[in-house]
Amino acid sequence: MNYIGSKYSLLSFLEESINTVIDGDCSVFCDLFAGTGIVGSHFKDKGYCIIANDIQYYSYVLNRHYIGNHTELEFEKLRIVIPGIEYSLNKSIFVCDYLSQLEGVEGFVFNNYCDGGTSRGKIQRQYFSDENGKKCDAIRVTIEKWKNEGLINEDEYFFLLASLLESIDKYANTASVYGAFLKKLKKTAQKTFKLEPAKLITNDQEHQVYNEDINTLLKRITGDVLYLDPPYNREKAKKTKVFDVDGINLEEHCVCESCGSGQPRLN
Ligand SMILES: C[S@@+](CC[C@H](N)C(=O)[O-])C[C@H]1O[C@@H](n2cnc3c(N)ncnc32)[C@H](O)[C@@H]1O
Repeated sequence: MNYIGSKYSLLSFLEESINTVIDGDCSVFCDLFAGTGIVGSHFKDKGYCIIANDIQYYSYVLNRHYIGNHTELEFEKLRIVIPGIEYSLNKSIFVCDYLSQLEGVEGFVFNNYCDGGTSRGKIQRQYFSDENGKKCDAIRVTIEKWKNEGLINEDEYFFLLASLLESIDKYANTASVYGAFLKKLKKTAQKTFKLEPAKLITNDQEHQVYNEDINTLLKRITGDVLYLDPPYNREKAKKTKVFDVDGINLEEHCVCESCGSGQPRLN
């Protein structure tokens, strides 16, 4: 996902740095400002048990899938509404393809983020093409309906939401961030939306995923590695009093960019 602050490009640096200060007994990795979940996903892939947390719900959705889901999804009950799914070798792709061909509807995304839905209002927006906005609405409404009707379980629900979040981002009419949209629909935004299945990281451990303020969560969890990548805005970081855990001043024990000089450092 396009995300300023993603540590995707720093994963090998993080892994090497962390490996220099831990021993072989460490098995629980805590990523408590998880954002896109890319760091927890990396260490989950390495066999760790992950505890992920973020105060934002979109991040919870991504982490609930990338971290929380760790076995293949079967979509057993969708046989009732998607004929043929029982014969499919990859049910996640089958469900995504089914959702991709739904007829678009005028819903929240269309009415708030597309030209067709906003052009008569005070604020005109074109974050997505009308066609893709409607398609996104149809898929979102269907996922919620399936959940409410008990046709998908929680794991399947968050897989589908994470897939929708990741996929729609690829068709956004922005210069990567959502602070502003482009005046004309760029080429990728003109393409017809297709729902792609979000990657499933299989691993034989149970993981924990939270959607809480770190200040309350920290008191209830235990782990071996504590990775903290707090917000860069100093005011927000100050409000998040995470810099003192069990008498350890974390500002002095961090591998992060948002403390001190702003340079990555390892103490
Ligand atoms: C710099 S980003 C983390 C990026 C992440 N490491 C990645 O690679 O995608 C900081 C995250 O901290 C979260 N956050 C901010 N204040 C928080 C709080 N009080 N408790 C939990 N999460 C918080 C934000 O929602 C944001 O996702």
